[in-house]
Amino acid sequence: MKKDLLKLLDLSKADIVKILDTADQMKYNQKHSLTHQYLAGKTLAMIFEKNSTRTRVSFETGMFQLGGHALFLSGKESQIGRGEPIEDTARVLSRYCDGIMIRTFGQEEVEKLAQYASIPVINGLTDFAHPCQVLADLMTIREHKSRLEGLKLCYIGDGNNMANSLIVGGLKVGMDVSAACPEGFDPDPQVLDFARSVTGSTFTLCRDPKEAAADADVLVTDVWASMGQEGEAAQRRAVFEGVYQINGELLKLAHPGCMVQHCLPAHRGEEITAEVFEAHAGEIFDEAENRLHAQKAVLYLLMGEGK
Ligand code: CP
Ligand code: NVA
Repeated sequence: MKKDLLKLLDLSKADIVKILDTADQMKYNQKHSLTHQYLAGKTLAMIFEKNSTRTRVSFETGMFQLGGHALFLSGKESQIGRGEPIEDTARVLSRYCDGIMIRTFGQEEVEKLAQYASIPVINGLTDFAHPCQVLADLMTIREHKSRLEGLKLCYIGDGNNMANSLIVGGLKVGMDVSAACPEGFDPDPQVLDFARSVTGSTFTLCRDPKEAAADADVLVTDVWASMGQEGEAAQRRAVFEGVYQINGELLKLAHPGCMVQHCLPAHRGEEITAEVFEAHAGEIFDEAENRLHAQKAVLYLLMGEGK
């Protein structure tokens, strides 16, 4: 494993499988009340420059369950919000803590933080990637389908951080991936270059959700406007509305028994109907739960004896 978890592009298939296997073990341990203080005495600094429910609670709870401590630093209230360079924050936190989780805007900030920090840095979401979420998604899909290789993962919607990480993560573990995104809202070019270079699994990008969803084993979507894009919400709605939605009609085109995943928060009536959301709530909340187990695996592998 590398020192940091910045984006799935940096991980090999073996790295991802190791995280998923460790995550399954973490979940088993918790369900059987087997507690392990793998991170006793260790502190994780958590920098949030955007809102969060799941990421904050699962990282903080995960650190506690592993015997460590997590420290919440809001961008606004720390010196980061007053312009202290990330290079300096990296070196200061490295003198106090054992790991840093950061949720921010630019991927370059996270990369710079990792470059200057002597401790592991974990990306808790940027505009480019959401690797921790997609590790939990892959864990959930494998749990429900007993395999990943050869399954078809279909993403419908904005070519955002979730689309980028799902495409990379899905292809790396041997899934076939399709994506339907409106023109002008494609996934990142770096991700498309990677996707088109993959051999053994197929990748397709199209405009029509019906084409992308055909025979899918897993349908995934995300919000039309991500955090930081609130000002574009109306313009985005005009582009996405009525087309880029997981609904009952779209599900009929997928494989029977198709799973639905959503990283949450979900906007019912926009990217997913309330009916589909509720019919697949079990899988969606398993996915949310698995953030905890997958992140405990990452924390153990990067900060604990697993490294
Ligand atoms: N899915 C996810 O990252 O949720 P939060 O924004 O609540 O952390
Ligand atoms: N694409 C969404 C994901 C939220 C977890 C956002 O960046 O706001």
